[in-house]
Amino acid sequence: MEPSAAMAAHPLVLGIESSCDETAAAVVAGDGRILSNVVLSQLDDHRAYGGVVPEIAARAHVSHLDGLIKRALDEAGVALADVDAVAATAGPGLIGGVIVGLTTAKALALGAGKPLIGINHLEGHALTPRLVSGVAFPYLLLLVSGGHCQLLAVDGIGRYRRLGTTIDDAVGEAFDKVAKMLGLGYPGGPAVERAAEAGDPARFSLPRPMIGRPGCDFSFSGLKTAVREVIATLPVPLSDRDRADVAASFQAVVANVLADRTRRAIEMMPAPCPLVVAGGVAANKAIRARLEDLARTRGIPFVAPPIKLCTDNAAMIAWAGVEHFRAGHQDPLDLKPRARWPLDAEAAAPGAKA
Ligand code: KG4
Ligand code: ZN
Repeated sequence: MEPSAAMAAHPLVLGIESSCDETAAAVVAGDGRILSNVVLSQLDDHRAYGGVVPEIAARAHVSHLDGLIKRALDEAGVALADVDAVAATAGPGLIGGVIVGLTTAKALALGAGKPLIGINHLEGHALTPRLVSGVAFPYLLLLVSGGHCQLLAVDGIGRYRRLGTTIDDAVGEAFDKVAKMLGLGYPGGPAVERAAEAGDPARFSLPRPMIGRPGCDFSFSGLKTAVREVIATLPVPLSDRDRADVAASFQAVVANVLADRTRRAIEMMPAPCPLVVAGGVAANKAIRARLEDLARTRGIPFVAPPIKLCTDNAAMIAWAGVEHFRAGHQDPLDLKPRARWPLDAEAAAPGAKA
């Protein structure tokens, strides 16, 4: 179907997200209005296992997705026939979940005669700041989530240059593991942040991995081990005070490391540009404050999406769909779901490490 000029300027896109443990559907308009944004977290399904079980996640997506899409359309007050495109996460992520979302999107696109747009989940996070603030390209993106920790130069739609990445764990993974060690449960990030509020960040001295090193890569596995060693010296069961102090000390180091690495990336950019933070860990207030401070001292704008748009959702997928639709992109109905899908062309080259 050929879009009219008006449709192309302000397309209405249905977005579907199912790459991890959130089943989500949303309708977003090209002028940045989020008409609906429905997210069903599977937290209770996975809590007993202390992490996401891919098989359980895929089944839950199957059970809930149809109903969530209907709700997203109803809340937006539109019918499927009114949308201009159907966008769905096509990777990277847990492959069972990605298949469920992408196959559903294909069926809807085929049935309703709408274009299908497959979205890279990371691109969804990367473009969210444009949905909320209209920030122009280029910008520097710190993408911090459960599976990723990267600094990227975002030059345009589909034009990403990776400046730095983690050489071991992702930062969200480190939060989740520290939460587990402290018995704070799952998901770890918000629990560590809550515990840290009452804690003393200076009580334990922890290593500050990579600080001062050239480049802007990250490493969190040594920090995680150091936290384990500190916990081993404390009386069991852990007191609330000890828990809070470990959480605060860990979070302070992470905030310092992220700020140090981001400062280096700012220096690697050819000209000053906005600093943008995205991904689940960007929901952390201490980290946001630290980065905001950094941007202020460098005299560059700072953009962080509201917290509910930092963690996984479908509005970010619908918005990435809007951007691609405007650029005239659409995908064939045999588009393949991808478990791995790096954002930048260099890392995506055959033989490159994702
Ligand atoms: O982007 P996201 O929702 O899913 C992925 O694509 O990974 O990120 C989830 C990650 C989890 O590791 C979670 O613990 C972390 O983001 N997270 C946080 C906070 N909220 C979520 N980490 C630190 N502080 C938070 N408030
Ligand atoms: Zn994510």
